[in-house]
Amino acid sequence: MEERNAAEILIEALPYIRRFSGRTIVIKYGGHAMVDEDLKEAFARDITLLKLIGIHPVVVHGGGPQINDVLDKMGITPRFVRGMRVTDEATMDVVEMVLGGKVNKSIVALVNRQGGNAVGLSGKDGGLLLAEKMPGVVVEDADKPPELLDPGLVGDVKSVNPAILHTLAGDGFIPIIAPVGVGENGETYNINADLVASRIASALGAGKLILLTDVDGVKDASGKLLSALDRETARRMIASGEISGGMIPKVECALSALSQGVEKVHILNGKIRHALLLELFTDQGIGTMVKS
Ligand code: ARG
Repeated sequence: MEERNAAEILIEALPYIRRFSGRTIVIKYGGHAMVDEDLKEAFARDITLLKLIGIHPVVVHGGGPQINDVLDKMGITPRFVRGMRVTDEATMDVVEMVLGGKVNKSIVALVNRQGGNAVGLSGKDGGLLLAEKMPGVVVEDADKPPELLDPGLVGDVKSVNPAILHTLAGDGFIPIIAPVGVGENGETYNINADLVASRIASALGAGKLILLTDVDGVKDASGKLLSALDRETARRMIASGEISGGMIPKVECALSALSQGVEKVHILNGKIRHALLLELFTDQGIGTMVKS
């Protein structure tokens, strides 16, 4: 990139600030950006800056590695089916304590230290996330008969009541959400953070959903980063196998958010310092923007 002065960079941001000010942006925070101290601080600054220029950031975080650490200390071996953590009651207790406690509060404290006004909550607070049990999955292994595996207390999002988020955002707070939900009979569910972020984005009528991952974005067969992607192309690339592995659920999450009214979904590499600002306030961005 050619040398540019600070004024030019700020001027490039101006139309985006004007366009996004007053709008809600939901950010799924996870992966490396949530572990590395330097990246954590940069993220907290980005969020604080967004709020100060009138954008309403809402953060939904993950915490898989942190949960595994605590399970490990307790002598519990994590198990997964199709990427879902098999969650019995004891595991659910750990998930809730770690996500809603330690992880959530450390993000809140980090943002507050940068001068943001963060408030932590889980899907239980204000009745934010009504959950229902995910059905079991049939797992077929070559040498065994198909088996129905029950992931236990893994939840799907049945409905979202965003009232508490409107209250907080309107009063100048930045909501930081742990992806734990409550069932109709008061049961606690562990819910995938991407899914929670996408459903909250649609319930809030968010202009954008941003998924922070550990890769640059969606790449084509030759490994080139795709800066923009439309729905049709994304579907075709999943069908053809060009989009594969861990990128499939990310892109599917993006497509489902778009079909539920979110305007744009951005898949970014959270390992890039200030990834949020670089994507939101430059013309080129740094990741993949998925739109209708
Ligand atoms: N800053 C603009 C936006 O957030 C454009 C971003 C373009 N990003 C991309 N990956 N092509 O809407």
